[in-house]
Amino acid sequence: MNSKETNHSKDAKTPPSEGLGEAVLIKNGHIITASDNYIGDIFIQDETITAVGKNLTVKADKEIDATGLLVFPGAIDPHVHLEMPFMGTFSSDNYETGTRAALHGGTTTVIDFILQKQGNSLFDAYNEWSGRANNNAVGDYSFHMAVTDFNENTAKEIVDLIEKEGITSFKMFMAYKGALMIDDKQMVGLMNEVKQRGGMVTVHATNGDMIDFLIAKHRSEGKMAPIYHYLSQPEVTEAEASERFAGIAGYTGCPGYIVHLTCEGALNAVRNNNRNNQKVFVETCIQYLLLDASLYEKDFDGAKWVMSPPLREKKDQAALWAGINQGIIQVVATDHCPFKWEQKLMGKDDFSKIPNGHPAIEHRVELLYSEGVRTGKITLNKFVEVLSTNPAKIFGMHPRKGCIAPGADADIVLFDPNQKHTISAATHHMNTDYSGYEGWELTGKCKTVLLRGKVVIDDGKCLVEKGNGKYIKRSKVGGII
Ligand code: URP
Ligand code: ZN
Ligand code: ZN
Repeated sequence: MNSKETNHSKDAKTPPSEGLGEAVLIKNGHIITASDNYIGDIFIQDETITAVGKNLTVKADKEIDATGLLVFPGAIDPHVHLEMPFMGTFSSDNYETGTRAALHGGTTTVIDFILQKQGNSLFDAYNEWSGRANNNAVGDYSFHMAVTDFNENTAKEIVDLIEKEGITSFKMFMAYKGALMIDDKQMVGLMNEVKQRGGMVTVHATNGDMIDFLIAKHRSEGKMAPIYHYLSQPEVTEAEASERFAGIAGYTGCPGYIVHLTCEGALNAVRNNNRNNQKVFVETCIQYLLLDASLYEKDFDGAKWVMSPPLREKKDQAALWAGINQGIIQVVATDHCPFKWEQKLMGKDDFSKIPNGHPAIEHRVELLYSEGVRTGKITLNKFVEVLSTNPAKIFGMHPRKGCIAPGADADIVLFDPNQKHTISAATHHMNTDYSGYEGWELTGKCKTVLLRGKVVIDDGKCLVEKGNGKYIKRSKVGGII
């Protein structure tokens, strides 16, 4: 362990100021950030960290003994879908259940995707999503805007979304034709506009036409089981689209971010384009690191893992872990898009009707710790970097979020690295009746979670109600972190 002793305290002897909210002192924690690793104290006044150091002598209203616990910044999940209308149904976690489950698992801020309806304005969609989130979120949240219909009117809305609403990232779908997909012409137009306004584009990079061809082929041959979802989205469909996206991003100069990248071929497409000096950030998701396509061989049970892109092969997992350590993959998210089993059954006779997505918002941090840090695949610092610091930086929330330093929001996880527990739908907090990780035994658990200085989770209990979560406006970062 790198035992760096740090004292970032501005004035460790300052008593709590009159008029501020509760002053909290976290004592003797093993503080981990993206770069540091030391034993220390954290002093919080109102919602903010005001001092970090060793043996702080401050007067606090409440003291938390963190001896033996890891203490790291609240995780940020920049890829979730809450109450999203999709494939004839809605994802089953709403803002209340989804952000509460996130808090249980140490994720204090999520970024959800607003979906523009083709033919409607971006602000129509923004108002709809805000209506669902306002007064309902338990944890903090922000929005990306998915542009599904780029035209002159949408172009005009982008500036207001960035400047007034703090929505600085715009999603493009290269698949789901007829509902969400835009073509390359619209992609170039959107990237030019977003670049000019200082935003960034994010992308679901798979070749929608090729996938639709393969789906139709399998259906016409009577191949209807969940495994054909996987076989309709081979690696090349993702590699090709990632290459095309990175090339267009390089051409337009627009900063880009590939969501839920799953495979070696797509990662190599980014590598190739990086040789041309363009920068595309990459997100993978916890399931692609830990689960593989053999799960689709379980007949209809495989529907639990029907998501797009699908789970891949062991060699892809190896490429993703390496990509994280090489710094080509900057973020590990979830793509949390849960459905109940009854909803999955919509596709019992036809894999193409199984709602795509799976529940994950609650267990990303504990899974990555147990399966990534404890197995020696990544360091503790990398763990914090990909779960919290990088998403905060890439999406314009740093240094308010994603770090433990004076001035930051006091979003803090106190984590017991030795506590063993078993994942089960019977005990999780997500609004789904199955788990993609049922029976997995993990070591390491979120014990106490603070959001903006308030203890929101303590020993498995949520201490706050819906409406506790705040909307986080994000800044323009122009692709520089
Ligand atoms: O299967 C998935 N990923 N469902 C959610 C929508 C998306 O493509 O991200
Ligand atoms: Zn997607
Ligand atoms: Zn998604």
